[in-house]
Amino acid sequence: EKGGYDYFMLKEIAEQPKAVADTLLGRIDAGGSLTLDEVRIGAAELREVDKVVIVACGTAFHAGLIAKYAIEHWTRIPCEVELASEFRYRDPILGSRSLVIAISQSGETMDTLMALRHAREQGSKVLAICNTNGSTIPRESDAVLYTHAGPEVAVASTKAFLTQLVACYLVALYLGQVQGTKWGDEISAVIRDLSRISAEVERVLETMEPVRELARSLADKDTVLFLGRHVGYPVALEGALKLKELAYMHAEGFAAGELKHGPIALIEEDLPVVVVVPSPRGRSVLHDKIVSNIQEIRARGARTIVIAEEGDEAVVPYADHLIRIPATPTLLQPLVATVPLQVFACELATARGNEVDQPRNLAKSVTVE
Ligand code: M6R
Repeated sequence: EKGGYDYFMLKEIAEQPKAVADTLLGRIDAGGSLTLDEVRIGAAELREVDKVVIVACGTAFHAGLIAKYAIEHWTRIPCEVELASEFRYRDPILGSRSLVIAISQSGETMDTLMALRHAREQGSKVLAICNTNGSTIPRESDAVLYTHAGPEVAVASTKAFLTQLVACYLVALYLGQVQGTKWGDEISAVIRDLSRISAEVERVLETMEPVRELARSLADKDTVLFLGRHVGYPVALEGALKLKELAYMHAEGFAAGELKHGPIALIEEDLPVVVVVPSPRGRSVLHDKIVSNIQEIRARGARTIVIAEEGDEAVVPYADHLIRIPATPTLLQPLVATVPLQVFACELATARGNEVDQPRNLAKSVTVE
């Protein structure tokens, strides 16, 4: 049942191109518009939405953090993202015009379920993004957009994450389409790019051998740091979470701009620091800033592991290890940038003799608060 792979996680990483393609299937029509009729919240109601609130845990929360950038950019509707376990305890401000999106692979996470119940009690509509048909979270929501990742067995979430991102992009674009905000050439271009992204994920998977080798060479390290900016920041958080749960290493993700406000004190000789570099096209200010962050940490002895787009030559002088990813529009970059981090964590776990599919102390679905 592992399809020839040693671990479910490896199989699930390899299934990502198909999972992404399946999640898009039937949701973009021939004319390049979105057909999300399955989201049974009427267009009239969606036009009224004045605030989006995303609740989720763990990896699904990271998908939500990325979704915020896309939702706000494409719809201009304010979007908040909150850990489901914190949500109801702070008495959040919600109303009938708030759209709450609950993201969950299993559909059984108690924290997320309690958050959505709270939102519905406040009169908000809840849209679930979920991978498990008929599970509790979609059953208790007003509407559901299923991710079509197929069953995810490994405790560490991989293909579900990529499909959660795809679903979030679809919802963001759909909201933009319905509300008529920023609809035009840019959005059509994004839809075209999305429909090509599964092939790009495939290309990333074909180039992972050096990442595995690098991971094996770091097996005796205690700490790995991850840095990113913009959507690369949640990708850094996700890379760190994967490493914690699989390799049992101290791993932390930071927004690169925060370095100088504290974390740079952690940098010491030969400390591995993974940096997710935004595209030099588009938001080039961000790119230039992160290149100087890489210079700063390298000057202090860090071993820099740089994830950068093909053709980005500016990073070359400062990268001790360079991992190339295909050029994608900035907002979609997490779909390709996360993959090497999954492979990295999985290989480090193996090198350290850890149980990859069933890390210690963890369960696949967390059904207690
Ligand atoms: O089933 P859910 O998506 O609601 O689960 C949420 C988290 O428990 C989950 O993403 C967890 O963080 C994973 N083990 C991460 O790999």
